[in-house]
Amino acid sequence: MNADVSRWHQWRDRLWQVVGGVSVRTKILGIVLLMVIVPGIVVTFLVRATLAEAFRAQLRQQGIAIARDISARAVDLVLTDDLYALNRLLLDTMNHNPDVHYIYVTNAENQIIAHTFNDGFPPALLNINQAPLNTKYRVQPFQSEEGQMWDIAVPMSEGRGGIVHVGLEETRVWDMVNTVTWQILLGILAAFLLGIGAAYALTWVLTRPILQLVAATQRVAQGDYSQRVKRWANDEIGDLADAFNQMVERLARAEAERTERERMRQFYLQRIIQAQEEERKRIARELHDELGQALASLIVGLRNIEEARTPREMKARLEEMRATIALTIERARHLAFDLRPSVLDDLGLVAALRRYINKYQERFGIQVTMEASTLEGHRLPPEVETTVYRIVQEALTNAARYSGCHHISVLLQVREGMLSVIVEDDGRGFDVDEVLSRKVGRTSLGLYGMIERAQLLGGQLDIESQPGGGTTIYVRIPLDRQKKSSTEQTTVAEVKSAL
Ligand SMILES: Nc1ncnc2c1ncn2[C@@H]1O[C@H](COP(=O)(O)OP(=O)(O)O)[C@@H](O)[C@H]1O
Ligand SMILES: [Mg+2]
Repeated sequence: MNADVSRWHQWRDRLWQVVGGVSVRTKILGIVLLMVIVPGIVVTFLVRATLAEAFRAQLRQQGIAIARDISARAVDLVLTDDLYALNRLLLDTMNHNPDVHYIYVTNAENQIIAHTFNDGFPPALLNINQAPLNTKYRVQPFQSEEGQMWDIAVPMSEGRGGIVHVGLEETRVWDMVNTVTWQILLGILAAFLLGIGAAYALTWVLTRPILQLVAATQRVAQGDYSQRVKRWANDEIGDLADAFNQMVERLARAEAERTERERMRQFYLQRIIQAQEEERKRIARELHDELGQALASLIVGLRNIEEARTPREMKARLEEMRATIALTIERARHLAFDLRPSVLDDLGLVAALRRYINKYQERFGIQVTMEASTLEGHRLPPEVETTVYRIVQEALTNAARYSGCHHISVLLQVREGMLSVIVEDDGRGFDVDEVLSRKVGRTSLGLYGMIERAQLLGGQLDIESQPGGGTTIYVRIPLDRQKKSSTEQTTVAEVKSAL
């Protein structure tokens, strides 16, 4: 039982492999052909069998009627021995009935007294339908060289006058049946050709858009987003075409955005590296120019002390040297702070920003208030501290450079694992969309750098500003960085190494 079921499943799977493997066009053609040919053949056979049956029954009735007619008319001729008239009667009947193959008449002694054979009576015929006859007629089918025949025997005067035998052939019946069969077959052929034509047209209508979709999908898969397919009809396939076009459009847009972002990122990374090199150049120059000179002057000072002649002179020169050293230390500190405020590492973001803001207020005469009570005494991940420090630095620098503002407020807040930073100035503002939509290369990178820095940490930066209405920068950075992806990690590492 189970083996049977699994064998059936095997067969079914194999069948589906074959049927499912051919194209839709072949499937539809196959279904149509099957639906024309199978019923066509069944109908042909049924019609053929029914027709043959009816024709044969008719032939049989006809044969019996002929034999009876002859029997009635021949009985007198036999009794009067009028063989000439009897022969005439038989030939006349033959001529008028194409289905009659032969007629012969026997007398009561079972001797043949008349027949229609030109080349003599075939003796074998006598054995075919010769049993004693006490019914009105007897029909005996038999096979002859000319095909299927029936011998119909009808007694004359209940046998006393002899027996009339009429031989009927089925040739005409089968001719007719074959003619009808051929006509039906021709009809089926016509239906078959029509069916193929219709199926071909149907598959053309159905599969043409599908084949186009397949081709277009393959080209899209290879990255060609210019592909669009035509909406052929107002049906499900038309809807599919529309959906396909929409999908490709979105893909194309997403791809364009991705490429643009990637270009921006590349460009930005390059600029960061370039800026870093320039910064190093500047520091190298400063180290050389300022510290180098100061240290050289210290050597001169030492020599001067060596050459001092009086203790007073020596004291004065020592005093000079101390001043030079103090100045040098101050310069070294300044340089170190510019490089990276050590307070950022030692005391954290809030302290570093406080110090930066103090210097900033002195330098630009702009009032800055900072509120960071939820962060006080807390340390954030180092990359977050650096990023926020640089973002606020850039925002404050921009405000001083472009906004002409009098007051800036900086707000830092940690809530629900999210650090939010808001920098707001009361300056003249600007058209954010216009600035950000400038082509890469033409615009300066400050704003992009801020956005990019926030995004590298999985955060977000929004700029709100309008001409005449001040500028506000909103930054949100998630502090739970466990979820960051590996690609993000490499990018963060890349940028951090460049910072
Ligand atoms: N706080 C602000 N107030 C007014 N305009 C600003 C402000 N920040 C930026 N902008 C405008 O946006 C432009 C782009 O700024 P940014 O990307 O930092 O480049 P950069 O500072 O190198 O010019 C500036 O040239 C300025 O016109
Ligand atoms: Mg700037």
